[in-house]
Amino acid sequence: MKRVAVIHGCNLNLLGQREPEVYGHVTLEEINSRLTALAAELGLEITFFQSNHEGEVISVIQGCLGKAEGILINPAAFTHTSVGIHDALKAVGLPAVEVHLSNIHAREEFRHRSLTAPATAGQVSGFGAESYLLGLRALAGILA
Ligand code: DQA
Repeated sequence: MKRVAVIHGCNLNLLGQREPEVYGHVTLEEINSRLTALAAELGLEITFFQSNHEGEVISVIQGCLGKAEGILINPAAFTHTSVGIHDALKAVGLPAVEVHLSNIHAREEFRHRSLTAPATAGQVSGFGAESYLLGLRALAGILA
């Protein structure tokens, strides 16, 4: 069974109450439970991690070596700032898919650039919680 590590970046622990007009009303727990159901359908083993600390996200990506075959990541605000997360993704060399609830390309200019996406196979952006499910399907395809 292929193992997928789902990594959520900063402020995503507040989903459901955080700017619902942008991110919707779905909570992180609800997203994780939808992912768990889809992973079972796709025959994947799945683990979850969320942190508000960039260094912790980097350490968890490094820790995926030998523990996961693929990474599904919403780096949240770190998307736009983190060379460290980009480099960690490159360093482990595991297939990764980047996801965003909102369409980052339709928002403020500072969100248009992703420093992390070039270290991934691709990005799904703008479909709310569905972005995660689409991303997991894409990753399953890569791992198959
Ligand atoms: C986000 C988009 C980012 O720009 C923002 O900083 C987030 C969430 C999204 O999922 O839409 O925290 O990654």
